Amino acid sequence: MHPENPTAVPTVVFASGRGSNLAALLAAQQLGTLPIQIRAVLSDKSKAGALDIARDAGIAAVSLAPRQFADRRSFDQALFDRAAEFSPDLIVLAGYMRIIDATVVATWHGRMINIHPSLLPKYPGLDTHRRAIDSHDDLHGASVHFVTAQLDGGPVIAQVELPVFADDTPDSLSARLLPLEHRLLIASVNLIARRRIVLGPSGILVDGQPLTAALRLRADATLG
Ligand code: GRF
Repeated sequence: MHPENPTAVPTVVFASGRGSNLAALLAAQQLGTLPIQIRAVLSDKSKAGALDIARDAGIAAVSLAPRQFADRRSFDQALFDRAAEFSPDLIVLAGYMRIIDATVVATWHGRMINIHPSLLPKYPGLDTHRRAIDSHDDLHGASVHFVTAQLDGGPVIAQVELPVFADDTPDSLSARLLPLEHRLLIASVNLIARRRIVLGPSGILVDGQPLTAALRLRADATLG
């Protein structure tokens, strides 16, 4: 239990990179506006910046090296076994850059979300900013979705859009999108932590009602 918030939802974050989404979640948790308790950060990269952010915050930081395992499933099983030691009710993939074995994913059905930098179902996988520019899209964005065995293909909870400018590069687009991703992830985690969003047998429910289209991030950083 979190000392300041006894109802805080035990949460584990998976990240492969710098960890700006993790930092945003932590900041919101520490402000008391997000009822989660991040108990551990797990990574497939021992040098991930996200692990340093966790250590600086006094949170368990765990990494395992995929090359030390015989195959994907045994690595994923080992990493998720480590995650399970922290008894999370929620796993957030925040820049976790590996495909996860379907059997392992199934164990966490409805309890694991991912943030992906595109307007899914457009551009699952890598290099999303370049693909949006190359396709001359007017709009780009990010999505938060429940994780299923299909890569970046689980039910979408919420999205944020931003315009693509004629002179945008993948770097400029990604830099403009990142702060919006942070707000989108915090707002999505907030509703999940408060049990206002759940994944039911036939799809996402918001306040008990079926979600027919992904929620949108509003200017005031709430979802609607
Ligand atoms: C984000 O753009 C996320 O959507 C993508 O990887 C990036 C991670 O950034 N999957 P960070 O490590 O959270 O800073």
